[in-house]
Amino acid sequence: MVTSKELIEAIEYIKKFRGQVFIVKFSGEIVGDDKVLDSAARDLILLNEMGIHLVVMHGAGNLISSNMKKFGLKPRFVKGERVTDEKTLNIVIGCLQHVNDRIVGKINKYNKRAIGVTGVFVAKKRKSLGLVGNIEEINTEFLHSIIEKGHIPVILPIGEDKEGNSLNINADIAAGELAKVLNATKLIILTNVDGILNKNGKLIKTLNISEAKKLIKSEEITGGMIPKLDACIKALSRGVKRAHIIKASEHAILGEILTKEGTGTMIVGG
Ligand SMILES: Nc1ncnc2c1ncn2[C@@H]1O[C@H](COP(=O)(O)OP(=O)(O)OP(=O)(O)O)[C@@H](O)[C@H]1O
Ligand SMILES: [Mg+2]
Repeated sequence: MVTSKELIEAIEYIKKFRGQVFIVKFSGEIVGDDKVLDSAARDLILLNEMGIHLVVMHGAGNLISSNMKKFGLKPRFVKGERVTDEKTLNIVIGCLQHVNDRIVGKINKYNKRAIGVTGVFVAKKRKSLGLVGNIEEINTEFLHSIIEKGHIPVILPIGEDKEGNSLNINADIAAGELAKVLNATKLIILTNVDGILNKNGKLIKTLNISEAKKLIKSEEITGGMIPKLDACIKALSRGVKRAHIIKASEHAILGEILTKEGTGTMIVGG
């Protein structure tokens, strides 16, 4: 039950955030839990109704790894990013499309606002990791035209190089880049853990940029958390006000945005 104090607090946030751009990144695991996916879709629709411009990005990590294993391929990661050969890339694209369809379908069940989007990243192949790209350009004009009409783009982390070849892009890195070029005020990353944990397994509630950099350097952060924190640091260094890493639980997005007491890790600029 929401108290009147919480409601008043929420209204203040709604007034403050109207017209701003928020980037929300989902782990691919969101499609494995219908209750959480359903509540996330309802949260997004509510924020959209409040006039917040939402841009959704997602991964498909676990689904890709389990499908690779079915085809006899061994998932390999370097600092949280997937080594991608041609067979792997086909699996990556198929899994991402599946996750994208599920997220779009769920949002549109409540209000036909979501649009599945691909083709917005121009990427350049890295020297390492195979068919993995660095984002060189983002079609911001197209994305602005979608959000300004009150729609919610749900974006696949696949880029195309200048010759039109597809390249795999880590979804956290893509979300960070989107936050920068769309002048987002918030980057919200939903994942499968409570937030950033310290070496004793305790949740770190707030971090500034230099503390975040230290955590990466000291290797307290490993695997899939590295691109997340990297993306947050880069976005905050370029004007994004707050980044949040939170667990994808029921109504986690609303709870994080509309109350003083957040649930996960908040990373602040400056
Ligand atoms: N210090 C840390 N605190 C919290 N999680 C950490 C830490 N170091 C490493 N991790 C790992 O990062 C993982 C989250 O990244 P992961 O890439 O697995 O998921 P995701 O990015 O949310 O999903 P997807 O890849 O589908 O987009 C956690 O499950 C955890 O194992
Ligand atoms: Mg990941």
